[in-house]
Amino acid sequence: MPDIIRQLENMRRRARQGGGKRRVAEQHKKGKLTARERLEILLDPGSFEEWDMFVEHRCTDFSMAKQTYPGDGVITGFGAVNGRLVFVFSQDFTVFGGSLSESHAGKICKIMDQAMKVGAPVIGLNDSGGARIQEGVESLAGYAEVFQRNVAASGVIPQISMVMGPCAGGAVYSPAITDFIFMVEDTSCMFVTGPDVVKTVTHENVSHQDLGGAGVHTAKSGVADRSFANDAEGLLNLRLFIDFLPANNREKPPVRPTSDNPERVEKSLDTLVPANPNKPYDIKELIEKVVDEGDFFELQPDYAGNIVIGFGRLQGSTVGFVANQPLVLAGCLDISSSVKAARFVRFCDCFNIPIVTFVDVPGFLPGAAQEHGGIIKHGAKLLYAFAEATVPKVTVITRKAYGGAYDVMSSKHLRGDVNLAWPSAEIAVMGPRGAVEIIFRSKIGDSKKMSALTEEYRATFANPLVAGRRGFIDDIIMPRDSRPRICRSLRMLGGKKLENPWKKHGNIPL
Ligand code: HXC
Repeated sequence: MPDIIRQLENMRRRARQGGGKRRVAEQHKKGKLTARERLEILLDPGSFEEWDMFVEHRCTDFSMAKQTYPGDGVITGFGAVNGRLVFVFSQDFTVFGGSLSESHAGKICKIMDQAMKVGAPVIGLNDSGGARIQEGVESLAGYAEVFQRNVAASGVIPQISMVMGPCAGGAVYSPAITDFIFMVEDTSCMFVTGPDVVKTVTHENVSHQDLGGAGVHTAKSGVADRSFANDAEGLLNLRLFIDFLPANNREKPPVRPTSDNPERVEKSLDTLVPANPNKPYDIKELIEKVVDEGDFFELQPDYAGNIVIGFGRLQGSTVGFVANQPLVLAGCLDISSSVKAARFVRFCDCFNIPIVTFVDVPGFLPGAAQEHGGIIKHGAKLLYAFAEATVPKVTVITRKAYGGAYDVMSSKHLRGDVNLAWPSAEIAVMGPRGAVEIIFRSKIGDSKKMSALTEEYRATFANPLVAGRRGFIDDIIMPRDSRPRICRSLRMLGGKKLENPWKKHGNIPL
């Protein structure tokens, strides 16, 4: 065998070994798969084309010249998920703790550049101790090169991060710029400053998991979109998730053949909304009964539960769902739910995914905490997102649509294409009791009179007819007909063309 072939084979073998048997065993002991094992689950069998297996770091300080590993702690390349092209990088914690050197960063940048050129998603499997400490500023430069590409790719190709180990310091900002972050429970964590620094600065004693584990980021901070019990479950879900997304911002979402009839009528929806307007119900039941085969991929299920977001399919095509959830805070909009939904709406708009909005919103959540926290600015994000979106927008008001929140939730006035209401809809400036207490303040105390006035207000305004007469909703439909009516509307909107005025970019209230 010629020498060069032998040499190459030797390097490939070394690259496949990662940091060696002992470190691989440690990785497994922590319940984590290796970087290569993860790619085997994520990608279609035999589809992976690896690049830059021979790349090594160039650091000579701290005896680093003697410690080189072909591939330098990250596996990069392209492959397929259910036959569709994706670019991937998978950090190898067994090599210098998956830390990012200049060369390691260069490998990630190379696949990002290529993904942009051909228009395919980038999936990052993060498992890294952060900047390669031995390299210093070269490593920082490498991070910034990745960040710059994350920003350039934003809105052009979907970018997805699966955090499967540590992700600390400034390193968190690459996943933060990507469109979706998924985490693995117990083994992954994300924070800007770790427990030791926190202890020094604020004297708080906090563990890695309590500071930035999956539980924190899926329920408290809203940084992560979902978490999974282990590596395999996370990667298998990632395969399902990728199926919802178009490859880039010029493509329509993929269509998956379905046997679920678009004309399917769902009689049980007629009794979903309780007779008592103050009684909650689960809006997810509506989503699940409307989507193809009940298949709904919810995002951020444990954060800001007063709004539900996620992907489903109608007539085989991906649709983004946004829905107020009466079970949590009566479905009020607050800071967290506005920010959560605004980012989702903007993702859908970037990638040509139609938006279906289900509305049952009594208004914005009142209170000093909300006002002081900036609900004015944060609520405006959702308003801005719906208003700037040019994708097909279908809205169904199931019950309450009060005040500013009515306007915000993809109303006709924000260029909603098809706006429907159920007979139970109440569309007005505010709820009957609040309205009567303001306009008949002098009669407060006379409870009989107040109840009569409240009932009068309810009968006059708390219904879909006033908005229907003005054309603010296009039709009042029976709940059972929701799926057929939405499907027909989306078919009608298949050729929609709408552009915003030219601008460098807007200035969303951040
Ligand atoms: C070089 C690193 C490394 C790093 C870990 N290793 N982090 N090598 N640079 N940043 C190496 C270790 O030396 C060790 O090598 C192996 O990886 C595994 O590390 P352990 O500590 O044994 O693993 P574990 O106990 O699981 O702890 C993992 C860890 C810890 C929590 C990630 O290693 C850690 O705290 N590392 C440093 C994190 C950090 O401060 N990074 C810099 C952040 S600043 P051997 O040879 O023993 O296997 C930053 C700035 C980015 O990232 C700015 C971007 C703008």
